[in-house]
Amino acid sequence: MRVRRTVDALQLMLEAAQLVSSEEAEKKSPKTDSSVNLSNGKEEGGRKRLQNGRKLDKREPKMTEEELAENAIFFLLAGYETISTMLSYTTYLLAKHPDVQQRLYEEIVQHLSNEEVVTYDKINELEYLDMVVKESLRMYPPIVTPLSREVKEDCEFEGLRFPAGSSVFIPIAHVHYNEKLWPNPKAFDPERFHSSKKKDIHVASFLPFGLGPRNCIGFRFALMEGKIAIARLLQRYCIQMCDLTEEEIKMKAANIALTPESGHIYLRCVHR
Ligand code: HEM
Repeated sequence: MRVRRTVDALQLMLEAAQLVSSEEAEKKSPKTDSSVNLSNGKEEGGRKRLQNGRKLDKREPKMTEEELAENAIFFLLAGYETISTMLSYTTYLLAKHPDVQQRLYEEIVQHLSNEEVVTYDKINELEYLDMVVKESLRMYPPIVTPLSREVKEDCEFEGLRFPAGSSVFIPIAHVHYNEKLWPNPKAFDPERFHSSKKKDIHVASFLPFGLGPRNCIGFRFALMEGKIAIARLLQRYCIQMCDLTEEEIKMKAANIALTPESGHIYLRCVHR
């Protein structure tokens, strides 16, 4: 029976790591290949083959096992901390704005039953949910370290000179609170993201997942996961402020993820 293999990010990293391992092993002992066999590559005509049948190419980018481990950990952090941060602030905003929560609850009840398996297409039918999540990501972008890019060639923009090799930092939250881009930026207003207004939103004014070829690779997954979690939560619970909830959350100054100074956001969940 033919086993169908999925080529995912981990598999690609394993193969990249194998390139290094096999080459290093070849250098030590060209005839007896004792390389670390990370991806079960097979010997064929003196050359190794990767699982997807591609031949090893020594010119391809390489990755050490240490880099592989670092990247695997980065994936975990990038995927967990960010989404939980997004959920914390979205639920906080829903507790603070019961009218928005009620409208969202009605949309969820209209489109989803408790038992139904939620698919990617299904969750994307919920337009108000999309608006609420995006407005939450505008007000509370989970990643607050500035996006960074290296200038490839000398250029000038609006009178500013950018020499090649210099670094440019784009502060996400500052862009999200720029009054020229987002009038009344401190107000929570999901209507900003209504489909009729999409054409008014400049592509570089909403940056929770970065922008361009190096933007967040997990953004579709993150939005889907976050939206499903909110839909499931609201189906069962009403989220409310409690005595411990801060009216305005004070943020820690320097952090990668947007973190409350107190370390917590307290809310009350009441069973429906
Ligand atoms: C709400 C959730 C998330 C937020 C807000 C977020 C935010 C970001 C941001 C701002 C960047 C930098 C993009 C740039 O420089 O243009 C980034 C990069 C990245 N994110 Fe996410 N992320 C989220 C979820 C995820 C998930 C779920 C994964 C993986 C499963 C992930 C994996 C990555 C990776 C690998 C990069 C580096 C991409 C590269 O350098 O080419 N992220 N993310």
